[in-house]
Amino acid sequence: MTTPILDRFGRKHSYLRISLTDKCNLRCTYCMPQENMLFMPNKHLMQADEIVELARIFVGLGVDKIRLTGGEPLVRQDFSSIAERLGALDSALTLTTNAIYVDQYLPTLKKAGIKSLNVSLDSLHASRFKAITRRDQLQKTLDHIDLLLEEGFVVKINMVVMKGINDMEVNEFVGMSLLNERLHVRFIEFMPFNGNEWDMSKIVSYNELLAGISDQYRFSRLPGDRHDTAHQFQVEGGKGSFGIIGTVTHPFCSGCNRIRLTADGKLKNCLFDTSEVDLLTALRNGSDVQGLIHDHFDKKHFAHGGHGQFTAENAKETYEANRTMIAIGG
Ligand code: 5AD
Ligand code: SF4
Repeated sequence: MTTPILDRFGRKHSYLRISLTDKCNLRCTYCMPQENMLFMPNKHLMQADEIVELARIFVGLGVDKIRLTGGEPLVRQDFSSIAERLGALDSALTLTTNAIYVDQYLPTLKKAGIKSLNVSLDSLHASRFKAITRRDQLQKTLDHIDLLLEEGFVVKINMVVMKGINDMEVNEFVGMSLLNERLHVRFIEFMPFNGNEWDMSKIVSYNELLAGISDQYRFSRLPGDRHDTAHQFQVEGGKGSFGIIGTVTHPFCSGCNRIRLTADGKLKNCLFDTSEVDLLTALRNGSDVQGLIHDHFDKKHFAHGGHGQFTAENAKETYEANRTMIAIGG
């Protein structure tokens, strides 16, 4: 019997997020800098066998859910074989994608046993979509969300809400969630990362979001799980649900069960902790990967990588030393 990945606060870490690449076919402003973005050279990336081997070690330590992220995981040439091999492990598999290439991967997703996908979508209007993602791909994204729903997948739409940029669309997104019982919308508070021009004043807070939604809709809170990042709600008479991920103003660190592996094989014990452990090199050298994982989680801070509740000042310190979001993995 192997030891679960526990930290000093008794939290058991059973949810692994693996970034497959730091490349993407979009250029979202909140995720990556406009200029001087240096992508990882291929030889620094985990190869398919290495991803499967590391995932197997984590499943042996009690991981029961794996999410593939990026960058955009579907830009990786060997996505299908990676997903199918991970799907065969004794763990649930999910994916976060911008959906642009999803039409080419429907058989793969099914073969890998993926039932639910998170799709990033920040605007329902072409010009705003383009301003945020720096690419003109709204229609394709919407068509592919429909396609996923028709094919029976659960779709969770992630909208990063930014004041004055797309916050005027929140109620339109809530409207989308009314239409299908497999369509859920989650509003995410804008988080601070290197190169994303974060500022406290650009956040639309959890409370502001709820207040704005209640101007137009009557809704009630749905029961949740202690590991949930989102508080979930359902509009009266609506089919799907909406949720709010209040990372900055309503942190959910106490129930954290998340482990992150970057595309270059570095282990992170928190999105906002800058310390990393190089599992890929350890694996390549035949070193004790399990021991490194346990040591790193022994050092995990309680909240936000040791920064506690974010303020304008400590958030800046964090993001300046941290990676860009695209290089961490969403
Ligand atoms: N703030 C909040 N969420 C973010 N994501 C990426 N960058 C940020 C940020 N700065 C989320 C997006 C996307 C996923 C990959 O990560 O919702 O869906
Ligand atoms: Fe690509 Fe997602 Fe980052 Fe946008 S948020 S640039 S879609 S990885």
